[in-house]
Amino acid sequence: MALTAAELVKADQDHLIHPLHHPVDNAEPIIYVRGRGATLTDIGGREYIDGLAGLWNVNVGHGRAELAEAAAQQMRELAYFSGYVGSSNVPAIRLAERLLELAYDNMQAVFFTSGGAESNESAFKTARFYWKAVGRPGKVKVIARQNAYHGVTLQAMSATGMAAYWKMFEPRVPGFVHIPTCYPYRYQGARPGETVGQAAARELEEAILREGPDTVAAFIAEPIHGGGGVLYPTDDYFSLVRDACTRHDVLFIADEVITGFCRTGRWFALSHWDVKPDILSFAKGVTSGYLPLGGIMVSKAIKDAMDAVKPEDRWMHAYTYSGHPTCCAVALKNLEIMERERLWENAARMGTRLHEGLRTAFGDHPNAGEVRGGKGLLAALELVADRGTKANFPAGEKVAPRMQAEMFKRGLVTRVRPTSGSHPANGDQVFFAPPLVVTEAEVDRIVSITRDAVKAVLGA
Ligand SMILES: Cc1ncc(COP(=O)(O)O)c(C=O)c1O
Repeated sequence: MALTAAELVKADQDHLIHPLHHPVDNAEPIIYVRGRGATLTDIGGREYIDGLAGLWNVNVGHGRAELAEAAAQQMRELAYFSGYVGSSNVPAIRLAERLLELAYDNMQAVFFTSGGAESNESAFKTARFYWKAVGRPGKVKVIARQNAYHGVTLQAMSATGMAAYWKMFEPRVPGFVHIPTCYPYRYQGARPGETVGQAAARELEEAILREGPDTVAAFIAEPIHGGGGVLYPTDDYFSLVRDACTRHDVLFIADEVITGFCRTGRWFALSHWDVKPDILSFAKGVTSGYLPLGGIMVSKAIKDAMDAVKPEDRWMHAYTYSGHPTCCAVALKNLEIMERERLWENAARMGTRLHEGLRTAFGDHPNAGEVRGGKGLLAALELVADRGTKANFPAGEKVAPRMQAEMFKRGLVTRVRPTSGSHPANGDQVFFAPPLVVTEAEVDRIVSITRDAVKAVLGA
């Protein structure tokens, strides 16, 4: 007999460990049972707008039967076989080809993983491999940025720039160095006449020189930060970052786990600034979350280095599920849907509507520190106690979690990030990244629910 909702909740609390697990979060877990487009339904029949596309990944929206059929068809044919040396499969080959057509034109080859953290692990190891292969074995360090989120395996966690993720798992993997990010609203280090982008890029170059260029393998950055605050860089930042990396022989890893696959109104986000990475990490939107898949794309120089080493020096990196035929078949169909429906266009149009809607709703609100958005469906509202001084609410006021609860009550599910301390640390942030099929009416509803939730939490 099927379990009742109450029995499911009890079993969840007793036996299921969740990401970022703590029982306080699961006192009353919501069990979701159905999704269609940008709408979710819970076990009690209540509907919500999915304000974060699952976890920034359900780009084509929920309920696509075509993707279920693509998986079923591949499973019937060949669900799985190893992609280890000497074996290959048709969906993995076709997907690699397709991804290279869609990504930056300097990308040459693809290695598949099962998710974002594995992709970044692969990127870090590949950067070390590359420098060893070309005779510079001392280049092993990775420079990452404060407020970065790169996943939580031990190495990815060490690149992640948020201390809350480290606290109970220290020590971190050695060789990861953090620098301030390009967070225009909070950045402190600009010299007279410098833009925030120039100053933040200068800090990268200074860090490379401080560590020693002969010790630095790579720099990793999300083109637009996700979980660290949906932080948009200034337009000059990434070309300066690219130049600094090139000048000092540091590989540039773009973590496009969130920003890839039309999320920002383009296939990949660094193209907004006409910049190309050496390694591109992807996951999430590649299958819109219908099956787990991620990967890295690498430049020709890196692929050439992989091909040129002696067999005993090979790139000894692997996952059982690399190039999983069923996951790759679903990804191919997912990309076909994006292309057929030109989802980058709706992402750009609805993203503009969302950003403008939030700006209109909060333009003169005394607690709206900043509204960020404008590049596709990736937006945030940062709340502060005092807009003039950027003073944050005390963490004890729990503004972000209360916002999340008030939005949820009104039928909008999303994620928030609580304040990490006083300015220049982040304030209470609310994130928006709905599926790329979201409608005008849904976008307007997201804005009005957010406005009502702010009123409920802050009284105005
Ligand atoms: C930018 C970025 N990189 C990496 C990851 C890690 O991905 P995963 O949770 O699939 O390991 C995430 C997850 O949210 C992410 O947002």
